[in-house]
Amino acid sequence: MDAIEIIILSLLFILPAYVANSSAALFGGGLAIDFGKTLGGKRILGDGKTWRGLLLGVFFGTAAGNIEGYFLMGTQYAFGNLGFCTLLGLLLSFGALAGDLVKSFIKRRMGIERGKSWPIVDQLDFVAGAIVFGSILYLPPLEMLAFLIFLTPIMHLFLNYLGYKLKCKKVPW
Ligand code: CTP
Ligand code: MG
Repeated sequence: MDAIEIIILSLLFILPAYVANSSAALFGGGLAIDFGKTLGGKRILGDGKTWRGLLLGVFFGTAAGNIEGYFLMGTQYAFGNLGFCTLLGLLLSFGALAGDLVKSFIKRRMGIERGKSWPIVDQLDFVAGAIVFGSILYLPPLEMLAFLIFLTPIMHLFLNYLGYKLKCKKVPW
């Protein structure tokens, strides 16, 4: 694989996880997954993890995998047939949001409040979760994994800045 191919395949591979994570942030809200319950005096997950975010995230992420599978069918970039891509999209989306939940669980146990940043971990949680769950169907080669881990914090900074410029976010980080 040459460098360009690694970059294109990595982006195509991780897209459903990015879509899941962004959809949860855009459309989330309402009932908390932990139903407001606490553990040892601290919230189990916190108000930043909601059922609506989880369900819509998985839905849009899976749809992204399906659409990708449809358009890549028969090209050198196809990961598999339509069913395979849809299922991979589901695993990547669910994994992304599960990774995010595990991170919030750990943050609360450490006494970090909802929304307070935990640098690097806040950015990599969903990619790590997506790769772990996605590996049930497909584990990318090492050079793709390395690129994804390098790319994600940079993409995060860029997207947050974009959100700030578009006035969707109050702060540029
Ligand atoms: N979100 C959601 N449901 C999820 C995941 C995310 O509703 N399962 C929404 C919430 O509105 C959340 C936002 O996406 O505030 C951003 O997600 P994230 O940064 O992961 O949550 P934080 O609010 O920062 O909370 P935490 O400290 O637990 O990470
Ligand atoms: Mg956060």
